[in-house]
Amino acid sequence: MPDPLRLGIAGLGTVGIGVVKIFQRHADMLSRRTGRTIEISAVSARSRNKNRDADLSAFAWESDPVALAKRADVDVFVELIGGSDGPARDSIEAAIAQGKDVVTANKALLALHGQSLAEMAESKGHVIRFEAAVAGGIPVVKALTEGLAGNDIGRVMGVMNGTCNFILTRMESAGLPYAEVFEEARQLGYLEADPNLDVGGIDAGHKLALLAAIAFGTKVAFDAVELEGIGRISIDDIHRARDMGFRIKLLGVAQMTGRGLEQRMSPCLVPAESPLGQLQGGTNMVVLEGDSVGQIVLRGAGAGEGPTASAVWSDIIDIARGTRLSTFGQPAATLATPVTAKASAPAPHYMRMELLDKPGALAKVATLLGEAGISIDRMRQYGHMNTTAPVLIVTHKTTRDAIDHAFSQLPRTGVVIGDPVAIRIEAV
Ligand code: HSE
Repeated sequence: MPDPLRLGIAGLGTVGIGVVKIFQRHADMLSRRTGRTIEISAVSARSRNKNRDADLSAFAWESDPVALAKRADVDVFVELIGGSDGPARDSIEAAIAQGKDVVTANKALLALHGQSLAEMAESKGHVIRFEAAVAGGIPVVKALTEGLAGNDIGRVMGVMNGTCNFILTRMESAGLPYAEVFEEARQLGYLEADPNLDVGGIDAGHKLALLAAIAFGTKVAFDAVELEGIGRISIDDIHRARDMGFRIKLLGVAQMTGRGLEQRMSPCLVPAESPLGQLQGGTNMVVLEGDSVGQIVLRGAGAGEGPTASAVWSDIIDIARGTRLSTFGQPAATLATPVTAKASAPAPHYMRMELLDKPGALAKVATLLGEAGISIDRMRQYGHMNTTAPVLIVTHKTTRDAIDHAFSQLPRTGVVIGDPVAIRIEAV
C-alpha cells in the first residue's frame, strides 16, 4: 500500500467542519476508493475554543495557517479560510513553496491570483484544485476539465449564486420587495459577511471567470467580467416579466466570440419554462455547451456544509489517486491572455416604462425606438395608475448601446415618467 496521504486543513467554518465530518464518517470508503490511507495531520482556525460540531481531538492544532502549510507531516494543504488575500493567500503560497499540493474552495483568491498561483505550483510539479470554489457541490470544474475535455466549448452559463436566486424567487413567490427579502436572507444567514459579494454579482462573477479560463484556455480575467447585481430588480419587473413568460435570474454567460472573450454576470430574463427559469431557491445551475456533446445542464446545491465539503473531497481523492490535473485544465503557462469583448451581441430585451396616459404617448415612444433602430416584438399596456400607465415592451434583437441611446432621448418625448428599465433576454 502506498504511503498515507496527510492533510492539513486550514479554516474550520461550515466547509472545514464538513470536510472533517466526511473524513470521520467515510475514512474506510475513502481509503478503498483511493487505494491508500488518508489522514488529517493537523487543523487550524482563528479560535481554538469555539464550539464546533466535530471532534477535533485527534488532530494537531496550529493557530497559524502558514505554520500548518509548512508542517512536514502535511502533503496536501486544504485552504478553507476564504478571502482573496491575507492568511489564505499567505498560507497557500507557503504550501506551494514547501512543495505541497493545494485544495481550496476560495473563488475570490483564484479569480484574482489564480494565474500566478497556478504557475508557481505547476513550475514545482504541484497542483492546485478548486472544485468547491464554483457552484458548491456541482462537479462543474471536473465536468469541464475532464468530461468535456474533447469539446470545443461554445458557451458557459449559469446561476451560480444561491443567495441571489433565493432572493429573486422569494420576491416572486411571496410578492415581497427586494429590501424585505434581502433582510430575510440576512436573518437566514445566507448572505456573505459583505453582502455585496452576493447581491452585487461579485461572488458569481468570480466563479464565472474561473470556468471561462478552463472553457476557453485563457488566463482568469475577473476584471473583464461585466458585473451588475440584483439590487435594481423590482417586484414589478419580476411580476411583469412573468406575465410575458419570463423569469429574472442573475445569470452568468461566458463565450468566445470573433471579437474576443465575452463575460457578463447580470440580471437576465430567461423563458419561465426553461431549466434555468424553473430554478427555485438557493439552488445553482450551470449550463455547458460543447461542439460535440451539445448542451449539458448541471443542477444542485451551490453552498452549504455537505455539498461544498463533497467537492473538496473530490479534489483530495484525485490527488490521493495520483490524478494530477493542471489547475485550469492545461498548463497555466500555456493559457492565452484573452482579448476582452464587450458584451455587445444583439439580443431581445425587456423594457418597462411609465407613460403619461394621454393620446399619442405610446406612438411617440414607438417612433423614438424605431428611430434608434429598435424593433418592437410585443407590447403590453397595463391599466391606469392615476395619470400614468405602465408599458412593457419586448424588443427584437438589439444592442445595449442602442437601448442606452434611445433611453437618453426618451425625455424629449415628454411622456415618460421616471427611469425606464431594460433587461436582456437570454436565449437559453
Ligand atoms: N454566497 C454564495 C451563494 C456561496 O450564495 O451561492 C459561496 O460562494
